[in-house]
Amino acid sequence: MPTALILGAGSDMAVAIARRLAERKYDLVLAGRDMELLGTLQKDLQIRNGVQVTTATFDARNYDSHPAFYAANKADLCVCAFGYLGDQDKGMTDWTEAERILATNYTGAVSILNVVAEDYIKRQTGTIIGISSVAGDRGRGSNYLYGSAKAGFTAYLSGLRNRAFKTGVTVITVKPGFAATRMTAHLTLPPALTASPEQVAAAVIKGIDGKKNTVYVKGLWKWIMLAIRMIPENVFKKMNL
Ligand SMILES: NC(=O)c1ccc[n+]([C@@H]2O[C@H](COP(=O)([O-])OP(=O)(O)OC[C@H]3O[C@@H](n4cnc5c(N)ncnc54)[C@H](OP(=O)(O)O)[C@@H]3O)[C@@H](O)[C@H]2O)c1
Repeated sequence: MPTALILGAGSDMAVAIARRLAERKYDLVLAGRDMELLGTLQKDLQIRNGVQVTTATFDARNYDSHPAFYAANKADLCVCAFGYLGDQDKGMTDWTEAERILATNYTGAVSILNVVAEDYIKRQTGTIIGISSVAGDRGRGSNYLYGSAKAGFTAYLSGLRNRAFKTGVTVITVKPGFAATRMTAHLTLPPALTASPEQVAAAVIKGIDGKKNTVYVKGLWKWIMLAIRMIPENVFKKMNL
């Protein structure tokens, strides 16, 4: 059976993705920081789906641990789902907060995916799925720390896809738009533009089946972001976004 490694497996989206992969008979490695939560999820997925599920401690910001972590938890498919929205206002004056946003959404992902990608490229097989964000499609005044980290992550995934294409490795960038998860529980989101974790998971499965490059979970976001990217900078800078 193929194995899927889920990084940030306690995230609401990751839980939904793990359920869909377990239904497809993937064995799973649930990696993250909250081992109690992952232990509960492990038992549930095993009982419901009859697949092998293990848990592993993973901290995206503990870069030095990543090579040994991956050596102990190799898989055929890797979902990079961890992330941190953070507090933009705080981050503008507090480097600890800014660095946490940048490291969790960008450098942490690069650190672990560099290791995963080398293995996949060597084996000439494998699928990497990165959960990025439409926030990375254009920097906005209200969240450009998170947005710039996701922009970096999107560019990283694009470059990796370009490099890995001829080796048979698939790299999928997922842009959920708004999603109703723990991360956004404090925000009022427009229902028509907001995906559930289950919708994100369904889009991920579709992306795997179709070997897609970029997946916008709600298709409307693709056109919204195209329009936003086309606004001239001279106009965009005056907008209150
Ligand atoms: N919700 C949205 O509207 C939205 C939109 C676009 C993209 N995204 C992205 O989608 C992904 C999943 O987010 P979600 O909405 O499902 O949010 P979530 O439920 O808040 O999950 C975030 C996860 O990231 C983990 N995490 C944070 N820092 C970590 C670290 N240093 N090492 C390992 N894990 C860490 C958290 O683990 P702990 O429990 O240990 O903190 C948590 O499991 C993220 O990359 C997010 O940026 C979300």
